[in-house]
Amino acid sequence: MNRPTPHEFEQAVQRLEQGRLVAFPTETVYGLGGDALNPRAIEAIFRLKGRPADHPLIAHVGSLEQAVRLAAVCPSPALELMNRFWPGPLTVVLPKSDLVPWELTGGQSSVAIRMPNHPVALELLRRFSKPLAAPSANRYGRISPTTCAHVRAEFEGDDLPVLDGGECDIGIESTIVSLVAEPLLLRPGHIGLEALRAILPDLRLAATHEGPRASGRTISHYAPTTPLRLVQTLAHASHRDAVLAFTAKPAHHEGVWIQAPMDPRVYAHHLYDWLHRLDAAGAHTIYVCQVPQSPEWDAIADRLSRASAGA
Ligand code: TXA
Ligand code: MG
Repeated sequence: MNRPTPHEFEQAVQRLEQGRLVAFPTETVYGLGGDALNPRAIEAIFRLKGRPADHPLIAHVGSLEQAVRLAAVCPSPALELMNRFWPGPLTVVLPKSDLVPWELTGGQSSVAIRMPNHPVALELLRRFSKPLAAPSANRYGRISPTTCAHVRAEFEGDDLPVLDGGECDIGIESTIVSLVAEPLLLRPGHIGLEALRAILPDLRLAATHEGPRASGRTISHYAPTTPLRLVQTLAHASHRDAVLAFTAKPAHHEGVWIQAPMDPRVYAHHLYDWLHRLDAAGAHTIYVCQVPQSPEWDAIADRLSRASAGA
C-alpha cells in the first residue's frame, strides 16, 4: 500500500487549515476533502466538483466523539451502528447540531457522518483534528475514482494535491442509513440490508422520492461519457463496442471486452476502474451485462442502473 510521506501530510493539513482542498483515499472511493466546518472550503468543493449547492456532503470523522458533536441527538441504534461498523463503509444521517454549517448539508437540518477505514484517511483526520467534508473526487455525475490516477486525470490542470493511498479496497461508495425519522436505507453499499437489520430490524430501502435529497440517488449518476446500456444479452452489441460481461471475449470481437468474475466483492472492487477503461476505449456504446438479482449484488446493480440512466 502506498503511504504519503510525513511532509505530504503536513502540506495537506496546511492547505486544509487555509480552507483549500486535498483529495485523499478511503476504503470505498477517493474523496475531495475540505474543512467540514469552514463554509469557504465547502463552497470550494461544490465549485470544483460542479455540484449543485443543495446536494449535501458527508462529514468524515476520525473519532466517535467528533461524530457525536456533529449530531443534535445520537439515539442508541446510531451508536450501535457506529460501534459495530466504524471505521468502515457506513454513513449515518442524523439531525445536525449547531456546529454544522448549513452549507455542508445543503440547507437540510440533517447531517451525514462516516468514519472511513483507510490508514491514510485516518492519519489525515488525526493530524487535522476536525471533520472533513468529502464527496467522491469526480466531477458531478461522473464515474467515481478508485485510484490516485483517476483523480489526477479528472482534475488535470486544477490546483488539487492527491494523497496516494493505492487502490481503494471496496470500490463503491458507502452504504447510507438515515435515522432522522424511521430507519431508511438511502444508498445500498458493501454493508448490506441484512447485516444492518441485526441492529435496525425495521430498516427498509427508501423509494426514490423518499428521504432527503441525495446526489448519488439522482437517477443518472456514476456515468461514463460513452452511452452505457445495461442488457440481458449482447445480441445488439457490434464487434467494436466496449463490453463488460461474465463470459469470455469471442474470437471475432475487436473492441475492449472485460470478463468479470461472478464474485460481487471482486466486481465492486474493480467496477469503476472498468468503467473508466470502457469509457476510454472510444466505442460507440458500452454494453454491460445485467448482474444476478440477489442481495449481494444490490449495490452493484444500483450503480450500474444509474450509470446507464443517461443512455
Ligand atoms: O463512500 C463514500 O461515501 C464516499 C467517500 C469519499 O467517503 N463519499 C461519497 O460522497 O460518496 P458523495 O458526496 O459522492 O455522496 C454522498 C451522498 C450523496 O448521495 C448525498 O446526497 C448524501 O450522501 N447525503 C449527504 N448528506 C445527507 C443528508 N443530510 N441526508 C441525506 N443524504 C445525504
Ligand atoms: Mg459521488
